[in-house]
Amino acid sequence: MSQLISYHPESALRFLPGGISDSLVSALETARVASLNDVDLWQTDRVPADQLPMDAGFIQWPEELLADRASRGSDSLISRLTSCGKRLQEQADSLVVLGIGGSYMGMRAMFEALRSPWFNEFDRAARGNCPRLYFEGWNVDSDNQRSLLDLLNRRAQLHPDGAEGKTAAIVISKSGGTLETAVAFRMVRDLIEKNFPDSSRDLIVPVTGLQGRLRALAEASGYTDTFTIPDGIGGRFSVLTPVGLLPAAASGMDITALLQGAADMTEHFRSAPADANVVLQFTAVCHAFESQLGMTTRILSTWGSRLEAVGLWYDQLLSESLGKHELGATPLTVVNTRDLHSRGQQHQEGRRDKLITNLLPGRPGDESLQVPQHDHDHDQLNRLAGTPLSAILKAAIDGTNQAYADDSRPTADICLPELNEHVLGQLFQMLMLSTVVEGRLLGTNPYGQPGVEAYKKNMQANLGL
Ligand code: PA5
Repeated sequence: MSQLISYHPESALRFLPGGISDSLVSALETARVASLNDVDLWQTDRVPADQLPMDAGFIQWPEELLADRASRGSDSLISRLTSCGKRLQEQADSLVVLGIGGSYMGMRAMFEALRSPWFNEFDRAARGNCPRLYFEGWNVDSDNQRSLLDLLNRRAQLHPDGAEGKTAAIVISKSGGTLETAVAFRMVRDLIEKNFPDSSRDLIVPVTGLQGRLRALAEASGYTDTFTIPDGIGGRFSVLTPVGLLPAAASGMDITALLQGAADMTEHFRSAPADANVVLQFTAVCHAFESQLGMTTRILSTWGSRLEAVGLWYDQLLSESLGKHELGATPLTVVNTRDLHSRGQQHQEGRRDKLITNLLPGRPGDESLQVPQHDHDHDQLNRLAGTPLSAILKAAIDGTNQAYADDSRPTADICLPELNEHVLGQLFQMLMLSTVVEGRLLGTNPYGQPGVEAYKKNMQANLGL
């Protein structure tokens, strides 16, 4: 089992006059208790009207799912997800995951963090017998959809028999009515029904709420498997429900480890003292820099492309949860060193409104990847010959933090012990808990996203819907 994530704000705290105040520590304690009490309140079904929506179900969900597996074995949700994932692995070579926002970004984060960027180009054995993975329904983009449909149709025609040319789809929408996802699903459903009429019911798996159009469609279509997104867990808090767990299982990921990581983080949040609690410490530092120094822009600085999609998932979580009543910090994910050559100038010398948090994958990359020696040294790199890329990256990380510190620009570090399912489960839960606690500090209900409705209404009206 991996260690717990650690958080190191010492470098940032040098620039916070007086450090974390006693009053903030006591407000955090109150917020911790209130966030945990929300779970009980939500379970009683007697949430006062002014506290709705109340989607605190994500807090104890990982523990509940692990307990369900311990007591019900092969009838448990974990087992059903695992067997459906295995079935999709065997029956299809391409898997399209359709969803948007909270019904998409978590799985994308896991896929990019835990799989090679060239995963879809590997042969089946190198993919661990898992299907190639594609994401759709997260935009309205005819170029993307056309080229994916063409690719999948071509594969079906080239391999008319067996799993090699087959496409499966997991369509995810809690409301069941999100237009982007619904429209893309129609197209992918058509493709599957036309190319594989005998197995289309096996190849399409809806993941949806208890009610809505997708639920009705699933019931009418008689699909072999349909999974439910539980009430009381909002979209952007749903990565560890079937929303993320089913595609993760179909991609050969260890979903028990994901849940165990999240459960371990919840337990740490509940029981660790405030000064050793990564959730409370991270929240305290972010909140203090915003409220005392007006640092309303939060840069999540990911070192390595594998973590970019985790950052984009967090961008959504923070924006939709706290961007209300003209409050809430603005999140921005960067990938370094790439973005040092684009946004870096603004972060180094621009407006002093930014707290930078480095998201660091614990272990160095492949040490055997080293700068080669060459007979022609016109680029003068022979002096670096034999240096691992990881050492060059470390020089960049240290050099960047030093440059920020020299100009009194605060940075803190979230250190991941390694990059695996257990650690990602921890990280998701840490950031979700922190967002909820910060909502309590701000007096903002972190659940619901009323502001997103405005564009949807106008879009539907423009289409005469
Ligand atoms: O956090 C949220 O609730 C949203 O981002 C939703 O996940 C997103 O709008 C997609 O909604 P649905 O799953 O209903 O299609």
